[in-house]
Parts: sequence; structure tokens; C-alpha cells
Amino acid sequence: AEPSVCIVGSMNMDLTVTTDKVPQQGETVMGNEFFANPGGKGANQATAAARMGANVHFIGAVGDDVFGQTLLANMKNEQIRTEGIDTIAETSTGTATIILSDQDNRIIVAPGANNLVTPELVKRHRDLIAGSDIVLLQLEVPMETIVAVVEAAAEIGVPVILNPAPYQKLPESVLKGCAWLTPNELEAAAFAEDPLYETIREKLIITRGASGASFTENGRERHVAGYDMSVMDTTGAGDTFNGALAAELARGTAPDEAIRTANAAAALSVTKVGAQGGMPEKQAVEAFLQERKTSE
Ligand code: RIB
Repeated sequence: AEPSVCIVGSMNMDLTVTTDKVPQQGETVMGNEFFANPGGKGANQATAAARMGANVHFIGAVGDDVFGQTLLANMKNEQIRTEGIDTIAETSTGTATIILSDQDNRIIVAPGANNLVTPELVKRHRDLIAGSDIVLLQLEVPMETIVAVVEAAAEIGVPVILNPAPYQKLPESVLKGCAWLTPNELEAAAFAEDPLYETIREKLIITRGASGASFTENGRERHVAGYDMSVMDTTGAGDTFNGALAAELARGTAPDEAIRTANAAAALSVTKVGAQGGMPEKQAVEAFLQERKTSE
């Protein structure tokens, strides 16, 4: 059977402006182009997992507005199952306002309906968690919901991957209850300060941008190399990594191989604009890995 992944997370409309010059305080500048693209860490990771061949169920919420309708239609188009998504009256769909320049990207998220992804919504869709091989979480929905999902998944016996972004301090039950944590380098530095660091060390898969990712196995740190690409837009690269990783781990792939595949998926994703724009299908990832192997 296909590997199945259940994601409880955010859905945003990404409103991106490209600019040569990032405005200073009080300054107005003329930018270049504007795009409205589906985003949100939850939805992005769902898209990456679905394109990698996983059967994906999503638990989330949108507002009763045009952005919400567009995001739902986009998910269906990606073959993601949407029964777990509530449309909530008199609430706006989440948005992310993104300033994209040559130097970096800067993002402000207005959570809207994502704040209404409640423990109660999760409880109503507990069967979706029970029917999956793995659960994947990020931190753009309320922490009490994260706590409830980790608890439910533990009762059912389904492993949880938590991508701790945007970073917040995690309660002990979450740190202990999840199987994998996937911080970037900044988030990993915050975990290193945590009193439970030694307990969670072997759960960490640390993403390091173009240089790849590392994890600890039997007390030894292992590095899985990344790929140099010509970058168009890094928005969503971390999400591509997480979605692909979840799809592979759900399939039963060993961690080092799953990380290699996730690195390749993330590398391909930065070559196009938009968080979901460059996310590859499994075949493209396999072809890329094959090509890199023969050119080594
Ligand atoms: O990780 C990238 C995502 O973060 C964007 O799609 C944006 O919606 C924000 O949530």
C-alpha cells in the first residue's frame, strides 16, 4: 500500500513581492513583481509529501473567503484529502506577506483561521491520525493542539515528526512524545540550551540549507550531504525537506536514505518561485539522485 501521512497544520495564501531594495523603517520603495501562491508550512509539507507519492490527509482550517476556497481547491488538485479541513465563518484565511530580495526573504504571518485548528477539531478527526503511518506537525497552529495531537498519536501508536518552525519552546510532553524533531540550525541552537537536550538528541534531524542535514545515531553524529543549486526562491525549502522526509519514513525507508531523498527534493524546490512551485515528484528526485551519483 502507499505510505500514508497525516498533517495537522497551517494553510496560508502567500503574498510575495520581489524587490531589489528592502525598505528601511518609514521608507517606501518600488518593488518588481507580485505573486499570490498557496503556502503555509502545513500545506507546503502536505504538498511535498503528496508529490513524493504519499497518501496525505490534512487537518486544518480556512476562512470563508476567496483565499480559503483557492487553497482548498489547490489541495484537492494535489490529491490531498481535505475532509479534516474546517471552513470557518467570519474568519480570514491565514496569509503570509513575503518580501523577497536577492539577499533573503522576510515573512510576516497573519494566522487567521489557523488559530482555530483546535484540540476539538483534532478529536473529531482522530480516525485520520489512526489511519496513517506517520503524523507530521509544524508550529503555525496553537500549542495546545500540538500537545493534543502528540498525545493522541502516542495512544494510537503512530510516530510523530515535529518541524519546530517558527520556533517556540516546546512542553516536555511534546519533546518526549515525538519520534523526530527537524530543526534548522538556529532552532537546533535553541534546543541545545534545553535541559532535556540529552534526552532528545537522537531525535534531531538538523537541516543545514545547501550543505545538507545531520542526525545522531548510536551517539555518533552523521552528516548527509546537500546539493548546490542555482537559487530562485528558498521559501518552502525546509517544508519540502519535511514533507519528503515524512513520505519516506512512512514508506519504511531508513533515516539516512530518507534524509538523502529529502535533501534532493529540497534542492530541486529552490529552483522555482513560490513555496510549492519547485516541489518535485518522486520520479524527478530519483532521476536527480541518479544523475548526481554518476557525475560524482
Ligand atoms: O515555510 C514557508 C512558509 O512559511 C510560507 O509558505 C508561509 O506561508 C509561511 O507560513
